[in-house]
Amino acid sequence: MVTAKWLLCGLGLVALSAMLGLTGCEKKEGGGASAGGERPAPKAAAPRGQTPVGEGNTYDTGSGPIKVGHFGSLTGPQATFGQSTSQGLRLAIEEFNAAGGLNGRQVALVEYDTKGDAREAGLVVTRLVNSDKVSAVLGEVASSLSLAGAPVAQQAGVPMVSPSSTNPRVTEVGDMIFRVCFIDPFQGQVCATFAKERGISTVAILYDQSQAYSAGLATEFERAFVKLGGTISGKQTYNEGDQDFTAQLTAIRSGNPGMIFIPGYYTDVANIAIQARKLGVTVPLLGGDGWDSSKLAEIGGTAVEGSFYSNHYTVDDPSPVIQDFIRKYRAKFGQVPDGLAALGYDAARLLFEAMARARSLHGGHLRDAIAATREFHGVTGTISINDKRDAVKPAVIVEMKGGQPRYVATVNPE
Ligand code: PHE
Repeated sequence: MVTAKWLLCGLGLVALSAMLGLTGCEKKEGGGASAGGERPAPKAAAPRGQTPVGEGNTYDTGSGPIKVGHFGSLTGPQATFGQSTSQGLRLAIEEFNAAGGLNGRQVALVEYDTKGDAREAGLVVTRLVNSDKVSAVLGEVASSLSLAGAPVAQQAGVPMVSPSSTNPRVTEVGDMIFRVCFIDPFQGQVCATFAKERGISTVAILYDQSQAYSAGLATEFERAFVKLGGTISGKQTYNEGDQDFTAQLTAIRSGNPGMIFIPGYYTDVANIAIQARKLGVTVPLLGGDGWDSSKLAEIGGTAVEGSFYSNHYTVDDPSPVIQDFIRKYRAKFGQVPDGLAALGYDAARLLFEAMARARSLHGGHLRDAIAATREFHGVTGTISINDKRDAVKPAVIVEMKGGQPRYVATVNPE
């Protein structure tokens, strides 16, 4: 199952100062009052059997800009998630508009900060669909925040595409909710297979019980690892923002695992790594896509060196599609794009491609067009939307080396 495709290309990491190009984009302050905008009557009735609730925002007959919403964590402990996603989709919007937009209509981004907070996520999606009357919503990254926003989009009949939420429950919210990434039953299997193939027979798990992503991925990993004949030496929990992990790490240390699986987000993971090393725990740490941030090494330093995580793409992939994206992104933002940036770019481009095929931008029509997406060529792989509105795609395993995630292996879905 694991195809080892060794690192073929090293990329010089030039960090220039980030410049946000805001052309064609609108940025607003997040949160606050819930939206009070009235929704006009839909211009066309939904075909029978479609869009059971809400009618979407049917502004597709005008000549003004097509509004697309983004809700993401632009500040807070997951700030790089929202920032990278925002940059990725801004690049896609800029390219789409430069190429003429949708029959001459430009896409305008309306963006709100969730601050990494579920209540805030619900409020800003309400504002996007009711006040701003966006045609579609992009976001969130964190599964718990997508789970907070999705019912609002579903209720309003406005399609939502999460670039990167991997918890299965996200798209189960309803027929308006899509994602362009793989899901955690697969990611758990990828991590478990990787640990097993490295000869690890015992793993401890430390997960964030406040996050749907972390708790779900912990369960999926355990299931897969045990099925492969592995042993879980202990399972410990924390809550996002915790500062002291001594009790959990001490308990884990006594079980003498060969690896510790930590399916958390980068800020907590980096703090956990630092404390683990202080307690004399030297085994590699293993994680999922939630580690994907330049802040992981910035905060964690040498404590995260030699640890592994699964992700959606790697900058070490020499394929022209990926290298071309990296070049464009770097030219615009002065940064190397992480997985979130790549997924944000793919989510936006896939949405625009669906808009171009849709009968109209009516929520039901747009939903049908997104659902019909097959073999869309993204930076993060070929994306086909399945009957659960998920994408089935390969994952990569990377290792932290010299403060950078370096390619180790690609794992294809069966
Ligand atoms: N998959 C994570 C979640 O569902 C979010 C994430 C995706 C974080 C990709 C980093 C990179 O919560």
